[in-house]
Amino acid sequence: MSPSAARVAVLTSGGDAQAMNAAVRAVVRTVLHAGGEAFGVHEGYDGLAGPEADLRPLGWDDVSRILDRGGTVLGTARSEAFRQREGRRRAAIRLVQNRIDRLVVIGGDGSLTGALRFHDEWPELVADAVEAGELTASQAQQHARLTVLGVPGSIDNDLPGTDVAIGTDSALRQIVDAIDALEATASSHQRTFVVEVMGRNCGYLAAAGAIAGGADYVLVPEAPPEPQWPEQMCELLAAGRSAGRRNSVVVVAEGARDRQGDPITVAAVRALIEDRLGDETRISVPGHVQRGGTPSAGDRITASLLGHAAGRLAATGRRPADAQLLGIRGTEVTIAPLRDALRAAGRIAELSTTGDSAGVRALRGAAFKDLLATSTAMVRALPPARREVTRRIAVLVEGDLAPGMNAAVRALVRLGLPAGVQLLRADGGLLGLTQGRVEPLEWKSVCGWASQAGSQIIAGDAVAVGGAAVVEALQRQAIDGIVILGGWPAFAQAARLEGLGFPVVVLPATIAADVPGSASSVGADSALNWIVTNADRIRHLGTSQVRCVIAETAGRTCGYLPTLTGIAGGAVRVYAPEEDVTADDIRSDARRLADSVGAGQRLGLVVRGEQALGELTTDELCRAFDEGGEGRFTMHQVVPGQTQFGGGPSPADRLLAAQFARCAVVWLTSPMSTGVVVTAIRGGLVEAVPWDEVRGDADLAAGRRTDTWWADLAVISEALSNRPGTSSRLRDEFARSPGGFARSSLVVPAG
Ligand code: F6P
Repeated sequence: MSPSAARVAVLTSGGDAQAMNAAVRAVVRTVLHAGGEAFGVHEGYDGLAGPEADLRPLGWDDVSRILDRGGTVLGTARSEAFRQREGRRRAAIRLVQNRIDRLVVIGGDGSLTGALRFHDEWPELVADAVEAGELTASQAQQHARLTVLGVPGSIDNDLPGTDVAIGTDSALRQIVDAIDALEATASSHQRTFVVEVMGRNCGYLAAAGAIAGGADYVLVPEAPPEPQWPEQMCELLAAGRSAGRRNSVVVVAEGARDRQGDPITVAAVRALIEDRLGDETRISVPGHVQRGGTPSAGDRITASLLGHAAGRLAATGRRPADAQLLGIRGTEVTIAPLRDALRAAGRIAELSTTGDSAGVRALRGAAFKDLLATSTAMVRALPPARREVTRRIAVLVEGDLAPGMNAAVRALVRLGLPAGVQLLRADGGLLGLTQGRVEPLEWKSVCGWASQAGSQIIAGDAVAVGGAAVVEALQRQAIDGIVILGGWPAFAQAARLEGLGFPVVVLPATIAADVPGSASSVGADSALNWIVTNADRIRHLGTSQVRCVIAETAGRTCGYLPTLTGIAGGAVRVYAPEEDVTADDIRSDARRLADSVGAGQRLGLVVRGEQALGELTTDELCRAFDEGGEGRFTMHQVVPGQTQFGGGPSPADRLLAAQFARCAVVWLTSPMSTGVVVTAIRGGLVEAVPWDEVRGDADLAAGRRTDTWWADLAVISEALSNRPGTSSRLRDEFARSPGGFARSSLVVPAG
């Protein structure tokens, strides 16, 4: 290392969160690529401020095999020592003595508040140490300021400035797994379960868990219920039971309060239900299980992107003058002053104490408001007493199945009925609709569908049907509009229905995420998790053999699935269909892996999209790597094939399904609802996007979308899995924009 190489310390602090390790790995490896040196502070701030310093250099191999491990290998703490000025003074001295003035802190708002304070006090702390003779004036001059980069890591997802924090998605999976598991026992006994969900003063996990788990009532701090909530809740639960449900689930956020500011406890909710309804009621508190388990694919991706951005900013380019917070907005990595986010967090805390919940909701942001509105609408979706049908809408499925399709139909039915929308299932797609294979879907028809795999509605094969036949079928069956679930085939069918004078909604539900106009689709997250779980199994076979694993993903012409699998799985190479790859490229990729093996690498994951690499089969790709590897590694294949389309939907897919459904119902009941729209997630928000707009993002002849927002991300996967110096592509990338970032949105503030 050169004497001027950037020296960057990283620490994890506060409550641990799944995928903190993935973030540490990304920070360290990015710093090494940029020619810097990385250091790990152990046991949170205690490793700097406690009686004994615990600050150690971290090399490439020190962060190997941690991408899929929960918790944090650095250890964490809620440090008392760092809360004291003397502790922070000790921390500053230790960093300067180690020639470090760049710090990446991975944690929640408490940890990042500490980081900001440390940043602001730094010059003073260093000056004090000089005066006391513990640092020299020249040391102080060389480390006149501290660069602080905050990475949001907390299951609570309570930090303004990011859509999502590291750990939230995995915690949600733990919660939804618990609710799913309770379903069987609750139904057997016809019981009610009251489930307490973590999140301190933030209701994100509770609201999202209630939607994804198909709960019947939810209480969150941001929406203190009306004074008559006990009657209202009991009425809802009783109505659900008399409509045929065999169990009820009430989700209570640990910070839930009433309008007087008094806590609403699970014990109180249980007592209410037993007294008023006589239901046998049990309490379930998943507790710290919510912070356990392996990190989900989504969390590994969030952590890798944020850690990479933080490492890059810390080690290269212009160092931001003020402390910064990295975050995710939609599909973009963002950077903003940490003090702004913490000011907003402080304001939220203030408004919560004064009971201004509208103010709290506003500050939590648009995506949170949307989530809350969806959860309120879903749990309020009673079987309507009076039936006023204003619209009859056919719902059908075209093409391959995707996990979460049933959750979407359930939400359409449950949200549609109270809004006067009667959903009718059409089996066999558009063709089935014209053949009259149509049945109404009632509130009870969709009981239990939130967690079900596959599609209850029989999918069509995207058979071309003439517009006149569709119009005639709608008139004959008094149907006012159509919702089509699916991927590209659904989109292609919708293209045929344009201009026919009735409303059509495409609800993207495909593991390929290939529907134009939407950043993602229902089913993609479940498939991603499944492929990554499969790849992990090979990883866990141990290190006695050096292995090269080729994973083949579905995804047709779209690189979303292989690219995101690459990041979540730690791939050394991603072959996406959008990239032109030659036989020479493959040979040199194999040679590069062989070189890395020589340098100590034990596993090389290579991901290929099924339609990447032209005619080259996965068997042939394996042979090419085998030859190029010259016996340095053994070859393995993971080809999950049809299993990617099956299995129950992940929480993220269930959430997206409900949000798309809500968007579809709102649009279908609005006076403007004619023509074709796609329910889309863009910039983290769900909206109905008109056909004219999405068509611009489609190459109908080639059967592919043209906006490939993920394309830049493959290089990050490769940077985090290939040792410095082994890839000329990465060397070039870092040389081209040392202070920049593969994603164009990351603009470094002037230093
Ligand atoms: O902030 C994360 C979190 O898990 C909260 O959801 C919860 O209230 C708290 O930490 C629990 O803290 P501890 O692990 O110290 O019991």
